[in-house]
Amino acid sequence: MKRIAVLTSGGDASGMNCAIRAVVRTSIASGLQVYGVMRGFLGLYENDFIHLNSRSVSSIINKGGTILRTIRFPEFKNTDVQKKCLKNLKEKGIDALVVIGGDGSSRGAFYFHSNTDFPVCVIPASIDNDVCCTDFTIGFDTAVNTALEAIDRIRDTATSHERIFVVEVMGREHGFLAIEVAIAAGAEIVLIPERPVFIEEVIRILQKDKEMGKVSSLIILAEGAGKAHEIARQINEKMEGAEARYSVLGYIQRGGVPTYQTRYLATVFGNHAVKGLLDGLDCFMVGIKGSNFCKIPLKDVVSGSKEISEEKLKIIEQMAI
Ligand code: ADP
Ligand code: F6P
Repeated sequence: MKRIAVLTSGGDASGMNCAIRAVVRTSIASGLQVYGVMRGFLGLYENDFIHLNSRSVSSIINKGGTILRTIRFPEFKNTDVQKKCLKNLKEKGIDALVVIGGDGSSRGAFYFHSNTDFPVCVIPASIDNDVCCTDFTIGFDTAVNTALEAIDRIRDTATSHERIFVVEVMGREHGFLAIEVAIAAGAEIVLIPERPVFIEEVIRILQKDKEMGKVSSLIILAEGAGKAHEIARQINEKMEGAEARYSVLGYIQRGGVPTYQTRYLATVFGNHAVKGLLDGLDCFMVGIKGSNFCKIPLKDVVSGSKEISEEKLKIIEQMAI
């Protein structure tokens, strides 16, 4: 193997830059040349490649976003589009592709390999933490910490005004981000798409909180489970004396300075990705299970689904008494 290409795809996640840096420096340390592909799979299609050397990735370890830019490119599902991408890679003498991205990007990489046989490795990066076969994705820890910082401020207002707050976090159609945020923010209730709850049940819990002497209650809502303004409206309408407010955290969760955990994961993932390709693996994802780093066949990643932890939901419930 002589040349490797790296791209970032899907929603940006803090730590993508750390992963790019790790891929570039491990490759160069192993005697490989590296190309960066601009704007994810679109750059493969449009032949938008740049040479990367060790200095190209100087001083990006602490920067959110991605220097390679990112985009959603649904046309990549089309096999003719993939054929053109393959041609562009081959013309440059590139032997393998590292894809840094989330669940969708993993599927993109898997189907690209299935249709072309081109060696691929995925580095899981997404604030949603919804990628199967790894406990953590790059950027998730940073997003949780950013949300916590905002919620700690909201808690001041919630307590001072004795209000109920509904805070909406991202996560697409999953509740992984919401659950982690709820545990660490000390929320009374978490609402996630995987376990739908009727508004009557939410109000029953809030009434009980009040009877137990709580002056305020915090609800963490995953965006896939509803709209914060609607839930706050229903609480105000259906619960006597309630003063519910809402806050949608939105895109502040995506960017920003990566935390230690994000930087560490990104650096080791990037290093292991290149080593795996050099060892001859050709369709895999790097991941972490417990405290063990691992390499997983991409087939298992795209065919499996990540489960919500019942234990964590129980902990949120028990901490809310
Ligand atoms: P993320 O990787 O953050 O989950 P998306 O779900 O938007 O983000 O996926 C990123 C990109 O991956 C898509 O815009 C598309 O280019 C590619 N992709 C997603 N699913 C597929 C698929 N089934 N086949 C080919 N490419 C895909
Ligand atoms: O996948 C990351 C994510 O931030 C999701 O949590 C959210 O639903 C989505 O991306 C938003 O996508 P876009 O940046 O395209 O609006």
